[in-house]
Amino acid sequence: MIRDNKQLTAEINRIAEVAGYLWEKGWAERNGGNISVNLTSRLTPEERTMPPLPHQTGISLQEPVNALQGEVFYVTGTGKRMRYVAKDPFDNGSLIRIAADGASYDMLAEKNIAPSSELPSHLLMHNYLKASGRQTNVVLHTHPTDLIGLTHCKPYLDSEKLTHLLWSMIPECRIIVPKGIGIVPYEIPGTLALAHATIKQLSRHDVVFWEKHGILAVGENIIECFDMIDTLSKSAQIFFSARAAGYEPEGMTNRQLEDLAEVFRL
Ligand code: 13P
Ligand code: ZN
Repeated sequence: MIRDNKQLTAEINRIAEVAGYLWEKGWAERNGGNISVNLTSRLTPEERTMPPLPHQTGISLQEPVNALQGEVFYVTGTGKRMRYVAKDPFDNGSLIRIAADGASYDMLAEKNIAPSSELPSHLLMHNYLKASGRQTNVVLHTHPTDLIGLTHCKPYLDSEKLTHLLWSMIPECRIIVPKGIGIVPYEIPGTLALAHATIKQLSRHDVVFWEKHGILAVGENIIECFDMIDTLSKSAQIFFSARAAGYEPEGMTNRQLEDLAEVFRL
């Protein structure tokens, strides 16, 4: 029984914890957002090769993910609500295993829940990050109101400019999101075009803004991914509240930002 595995259960509980935060933050309207986590290292060799659900094998992927052969992921289900993922992750998501040829996947547990429509994006990202030797097990996508709002303003659709703006609102942002943010111009959700454009940004960033859609973070663990987005959202709120009060926030100076980079070895 997969639920007897304490390491796996701890990881699934962390996913549920973060799904709850996404809902509480107001970042997860209806089925907004999705999560995938590579759980392979949490499984025993027997669990990694567990039999698939009946008639749920060889589900084709649009593009092969050769670096992920045999790897097992938890993925939230398409159309599923984060507020319910928080309560019952296995009723609102599933475990999938990438086939030995990297071109398809099997559904493993516990129910036959169709994975997120962003699965092609998530898997191509996991594939790219693994092939690049990065220790990233998690892809987290969510819809934070304030950060999406910024992407509706053309002058902010510039990675350097928006990174500088958000970094300069509060010192922690420079420290917690040291690689800044990448920006992907609008693409239809769930498409390979969106996946490929995102991968380009991941070579330099751990957080990517999807224009007029949402935010995506990659990291070693899901709490870290949530914290990066939460800190960026805090910066955006400081910016918007200053503007709403009728003044332009001064922002930290370049010298102050450089000092942080020096002291925290960023
Ligand atoms: P899914 O319900 O298919 O995961 O889609 C939600 C979403 O945010 C699409 O970008
Ligand atoms: Zn989305």
